[in-house]
Amino acid sequence: DPAFTTVTPGKLTMSTNASFPPYEMVADDGSFEGIDIEVAGAIAEKLGLELQVDDMGFDAALQAAQTGKSDMVMAGVTVTEERQAVMDFSNSYANGVQVVIVKEGSPIQTVDDLANANMIGCQMGTTGYIYCSDTPENGGFGEDHVTPYDDGAAAVQALMNGQIDAVVIDNMPAQEYVAANPGLKILDGEFTNEDYAIGVAKGNTALLDAINGALEELTNDGTIQSIVDKYISA
Ligand code: ARG
Repeated sequence: DPAFTTVTPGKLTMSTNASFPPYEMVADDGSFEGIDIEVAGAIAEKLGLELQVDDMGFDAALQAAQTGKSDMVMAGVTVTEERQAVMDFSNSYANGVQVVIVKEGSPIQTVDDLANANMIGCQMGTTGYIYCSDTPENGGFGEDHVTPYDDGAAAVQALMNGQIDAVVIDNMPAQEYVAANPGLKILDGEFTNEDYAIGVAKGNTALLDAINGALEELTNDGTIQSIVDKYISA
């Protein structure tokens, strides 16, 4: 293995935004849990390191990895061309789909009806926000029709309170929020289809190779699937 160094010797420091169930969230006892947390823990173990989780805003979590304040960002991060321009990504370990949450009985009945929404809520910095706030020519609805929230839960709360008409968010957290909040539903149809990967500082090839090697072993030996199965019931 080529030599790599980490921000804190002996540790693999992961920046994340632990408000994204079932990928990363804070458990009742204050500990971090979720698919990303456990996969990161398994990667750290393969690399002979101890996992350190640093929880912060989503944008900050991306930036921490970009600027080398963390070794990697793992936060259900979608690979996009814009992000690839400023950081390097591992092989993809999961898929995500942006979906639309509305209140039951909403006049917004299809993904296409989103164009009629007065206000859409998204977590700031996410692909949901980026796509929705884009211009209509680019498939978005314009900044005036999208409110950024600190996290998905806050956007869902605003929807419950009637402050916004819809939330655009990744499908897995969407399912958790809808299950926890009676009266909400996910519309049929996908807004976008995306790949999740781990981000590291641009040019940190030694660490990226080590992460990809660990990911491959954890895929082949079934570890990743068993972690996913633990959090996502079929
Ligand atoms: N997949 C989306 C993106 O990359 C949302 C990720 C949000 N993750 C989080 N931990 N809050 O923009």
